[in-house]
Amino acid sequence: MSAIYTWGATNEKGESDPLCRVTLYALKGVWETEMERALVIGDTGGIGAALAATLRQRGVKVRGMSRRDGFDVTEPASVEAQLGALKDVFDLVFVASGALTSTRSGPEKALRDVSAEEMAAQFAVNAIGPALVLRHAKRLLPRKGRSIFAVLSARVGSIGDNRAGGWYSYRASKAALNQIVRTASIEIARTHRKAMCVALHPGTVLTPFTAGYPCHAKNTPEEAAGNLLDVVNGLKASDTGGFFDYSGARVEW
Ligand SMILES: NC(=O)c1ccc[n+]([C@@H]2O[C@H](COP(=O)([O-])OP(=O)(O)OC[C@H]3O[C@@H](n4cnc5c(N)ncnc54)[C@H](OP(=O)(O)O)[C@@H]3O)[C@@H](O)[C@H]2O)c1
Repeated sequence: MSAIYTWGATNEKGESDPLCRVTLYALKGVWETEMERALVIGDTGGIGAALAATLRQRGVKVRGMSRRDGFDVTEPASVEAQLGALKDVFDLVFVASGALTSTRSGPEKALRDVSAEEMAAQFAVNAIGPALVLRHAKRLLPRKGRSIFAVLSARVGSIGDNRAGGWYSYRASKAALNQIVRTASIEIARTHRKAMCVALHPGTVLTPFTAGYPCHAKNTPEEAAGNLLDVVNGLKASDTGGFFDYSGARVEW
């Protein structure tokens, strides 16, 4: 489905083609006709860059933010200054930043590996950072009309699905992120009735993030971006506060 999208939104030179987009809208419903602007946090990452590129191919105006521009989610002052300065509203805000480890070369395998430094740093980048972005959600999303605030979580953040153990800091930070997203969705729905705030698991994706795990089957970032945008396109108002994987299936908390 994402291949049809990409073809439909661009001509043979890769330029945005309004005529093709008309065909695309007929194929995929009304969401693309309404989506004009997206904000991608972490657009330098494997998945974030592919999301930004795919959205641009579909004719969406994308604003990217990353540490390249001095936007660091672990630095509250930089989040406040840069998001506070934005005057636009966005139909889609996608937080694609995050890290598997912060002070170690790999995630913890056993309790003896747990350290306060790693756990605090993982919470800072994976949970507190997105929460600081969410502080701006009600201003960045339109009050009326459909909009999405999506955050990349991870299936290993699911407490119910945890059968393998290990990875204490990463798992706990993503579980905290899921709770933050769920809680924010309830507040945002009070003023933004058509806004959906969701946590998404992208699948295992071939990015620097998974470089240490060569044996796993991985999707390309482009495939992951297409899958995630299909999920975003299919969300209903009743899905807000949910945790979904790249196929649109709910992930247990
Ligand atoms: N890849 C997978 O298989 C997989 C699976 C499950 C979940 N995820 C989740 O998907 C997200 C993206 O993963 P990825 O594979 O695209 O990873 P990636 O290629 O390593 O990209 C990570 C992104 O996060 C940004 N980032 C890291 N620390 C930051 C900070 N302090 N402030 C602002 N931005 C920061 C990076 O920006 P810089 O350019 O500034 O470093 C980069 O844009 C993560 O949240 C990850 O947990 C990935």
